[in-house]
Amino acid sequence: MRIILIGCGVVGQSLARILVRREAELVKKHGFHPRVVAIVDRGGAALNSKGLDLEKMLSLKTEKGTVAASREYGHLAMSALEVIECVEAEATVEATPTNIGDGEPGLSNIKKAFKTGKHVVTTNKGPLALALPALTELADYNKVYLRFSGTVGAGTPVLELAKKCLLGDRIVSIKGILNGTTNYILTEMDEKHITFQQALEKAQELGYAETNPSMDIDGTDAACKLVIMANWIMNKKATLKDVAVQGIRNITPEALEEAAKRGCTLKLIGSINNNLRVKPTEISRHDPLSVGGVLNAVTFVSEFAGEETIIGRGAGGMETASAILRDLLDIKNHLATASMACRIGG
Ligand SMILES: NC(=O)c1ccc[n+]([C@@H]2O[C@H](COP(=O)([O-])OP(=O)(O)OC[C@H]3O[C@@H](n4cnc5c(N)ncnc54)[C@H](OP(=O)(O)O)[C@@H]3O)[C@@H](O)[C@H]2O)c1
Repeated sequence: MRIILIGCGVVGQSLARILVRREAELVKKHGFHPRVVAIVDRGGAALNSKGLDLEKMLSLKTEKGTVAASREYGHLAMSALEVIECVEAEATVEATPTNIGDGEPGLSNIKKAFKTGKHVVTTNKGPLALALPALTELADYNKVYLRFSGTVGAGTPVLELAKKCLLGDRIVSIKGILNGTTNYILTEMDEKHITFQQALEKAQELGYAETNPSMDIDGTDAACKLVIMANWIMNKKATLKDVAVQGIRNITPEALEEAAKRGCTLKLIGSINNNLRVKPTEISRHDPLSVGGVLNAVTFVSEFAGEETIIGRGAGGMETASAILRDLLDIKNHLATASMACRIGG
């Protein structure tokens, strides 16, 4: 599988590291031979139709700041759209920053990939939160696959649990902690009896929260993930504007102390029932969703299997890159099954 990698930051570089480390095993265990034929960052692109040397690309990125600095393969200022248009590849991995204003540059990259017949694996929540129903249609129209398991739960297979392990059952509702930063802040406030501001500063010192933490603490990041789950798992044609969102800025240590007296705590819970909602919610300390620190946890309520909860780290470069690899393998397996069906069909 020839792959174009758009975005060579934390996630993109982690994917390159995993591909280097797993190369032999991927061929042996899965018959999977990924070849990264292009990498794009803000400086431009590096292209090699035979496959780029990923270790060299990683060193170059660290030393020079852009893969386009490669003397043999670099193309300074070449854009992602130009690369997707002109490079032959089976798949595009889209790992540019999340932008929930207009979804760019990810949205255009994904559309261009579809239109040029390339499957897409993305970790970028922006385009999906704004336009997942339309993107799914466009992928189907162009007969390509769109996969995005790293967008919810990073490496924790939240989407797969619902879609694959609960196959045949009917999921009637979903609720969960979908953002590690806010969970860390609420856990600190609860355990150390500190204010929201103090806990936020601690999260920023530890690198869990951005300098502008709004996406996390105002609930938007969790809302994006809720939209993705609503579409992918429950076939709802929802976008970000369909989610009622309330963040955690106004939570006080006193509110947490009151909840504690009832054997409860406050968590930022995203839920999908008849409607989509993100809001601080009181839950029992015995609830499986009562996880601490930066953990994420999601409970699926299904018609026959009942309640299932999956817990794991919801962020991290290697974790998210492992989800990309999972998605690439999933696409490879679908393609293999389709080609087998064609051969049997004659
Ligand atoms: N990090 C995580 O734990 C995590 C978890 C789940 C999902 N995600 C999502 O995954 C995506 C990538 O995250 P990240 O942490 O890897 O972000 P990052 O470290 O900021 O990397 C973003 C990469 O995109 C490149 N880029 C930005 N604008 C571009 C453009 N117009 N054309 C081409 N390349 C462009 C950047 O180029 P330069 O290198 O030149 O700046 C950089 O290489 C984001 O959407 C994020 O929300 C991240």
